[in-house]
Amino acid sequence: MNFTTDILTLFDRKWALVTAGDISDFNTMTISWGGMGTLWSKPVATVYVKPVRYTHEFMEANDYFTVSFFEEEYREALKLLGSKSGRDCDKVAESHLTPVRIGENLVGYVQAFRTLVCRKIYTQELDASAVPEAVRETYYAKEAPHTMYIGEIIGIG
Ligand SMILES: Cc1cc2nc3c(=O)[nH]c(=O)nc-3n(C[C@H](O)[C@H](O)[C@H](O)COP(=O)(O)O)c2cc1C
Repeated sequence: MNFTTDILTLFDRKWALVTAGDISDFNTMTISWGGMGTLWSKPVATVYVKPVRYTHEFMEANDYFTVSFFEEEYREALKLLGSKSGRDCDKVAESHLTPVRIGENLVGYVQAFRTLVCRKIYTQELDASAVPEAVRETYYAKEAPHTMYIGEIIGIG
C-alpha cells in the first residue's frame, strides 16, 4: 500500500466521500474532517460523522467503509452530496458520480483518484463536555457531537 499526500490539507481542502453499505444499499456523504495515521501499529483513517446524518446509520450497521478522494472537477458533486440527504432523494444519481462495487460488500466511485478501504476498529461518540467551549457552542449547540470512526486501512485503490 502506498499513498503520498499532504495530509494536513487533504481532507480540509479536497474534501472526501465516506461511504458505507453494499452496492444494493449504501449511503455516502461529503466530509472535510478526518485524518490518517497509525494506531495499535496499524495504518488508520479517522472520520467524524454526526448521528443526524443518514450515513451514520450505515456506518453503524457495517464493519467496513470507504473514503474516496476526488480532483477539483468533481467539487460540485461533492457539494451536492454534502448538502442533500440520502434519506430524501437519490443524491448519488443526481451527483453523476458512478458508484462501483469493491470486493464483496463495499462501494467506491469510478471518478475517485484514490480510495481507502477501511475496517472499523474503533467507534466512539465525542464527549461534548471534553471539547473546547467555543467548539461546543459552534458545532454542538443544537446537534449531538460527531461519532468518531477509526478504520484500519486494509486497501488503497
Ligand atoms: C465540505 C463539506 C464537509 C462536510 N464534512 C462533514 C464531516 O466531516 N462530518 C459530518 O458529519 N458532516 C459533514 N458534512 C455534512 C454532510 O456531508 C451533510 O450533512 C450530508 O448532507 C449528509 O448526508 P446524509 O444525510 O445522506 O448522510 C460536510 C458537508 C460539506 C459540504
